[in-house]
Amino acid sequence: MKVIVVKNAAEGGKQGFQVFKDALANGAKVFGLATGSTPISTYDEITSSDLDFSHVTSVNLDEYVGLGPDHPQSYNYFMHEHFFNKKPFANSYLPDGLNKDAEAETKRYDKVIADNPIDLGILGLGRNGHIGFNEPGTPFDSTTHQVKLTESTIAANARFFDNEEEVPKYAYSMGIGSILKDKQILLEAYGEEKADAVKGMIEGPVTPDLPASSLQNHDKVIVVIDEAAASKLSKKY
Ligand code: F6R
Repeated sequence: MKVIVVKNAAEGGKQGFQVFKDALANGAKVFGLATGSTPISTYDEITSSDLDFSHVTSVNLDEYVGLGPDHPQSYNYFMHEHFFNKKPFANSYLPDGLNKDAEAETKRYDKVIADNPIDLGILGLGRNGHIGFNEPGTPFDSTTHQVKLTESTIAANARFFDNEEEVPKYAYSMGIGSILKDKQILLEAYGEEKADAVKGMIEGPVTPDLPASSLQNHDKVIVVIDEAAASKLSKKY
């Protein structure tokens, strides 16, 4: 892993932009994308640049089951707001949250990934070390699957919805096995609350208990973290 420590997320966005730009210059055709607060500074840099990526494809990591693209909490909505409406790709794929047939949808999405092998995957990191919606315990060879959200995730998400009933109970997520097939990975993490997960990911044992530790098995990973997220690492990077 190549570890780059920056002052803050704004600086991280500049690093993320450079990684995206270099991948594009090296002929990348497919970009894997995450939602969440972490990649926003990178997406802002990309969408406000004059980079031409109108010929390439994006494939997102995950989506809530039951939420369509018009729902403000759907990841599809998020991606349009923070990325695609500002500057589109030629094609953009996300799991279809409105498809209630989990077997059909996960199979369809595995085919999307197989047909569009990811050259650069951009990841965030959960406080518990999750990547995508792959929570601790997810096998390293997993493909796209339906995830039952934990009570704590549902409770944490409730604040974004009008009532508890509306909070999705399931999500579709690209598996760890699929993520590890990305030719190159950029993982960003900012803030002190990510420090334990960052330490486990970089210095800890490789274990399904900390899904991001699987990235130690990948030979082309760039990690961009701020000083707070790097604060528990045992050496300087
Ligand atoms: C989102 C995703 C998640 C997030 C992670 C960090 O598509 O796959 O793994 O990257 O939960 O979220 P933030 O960036 O909001 O801290």
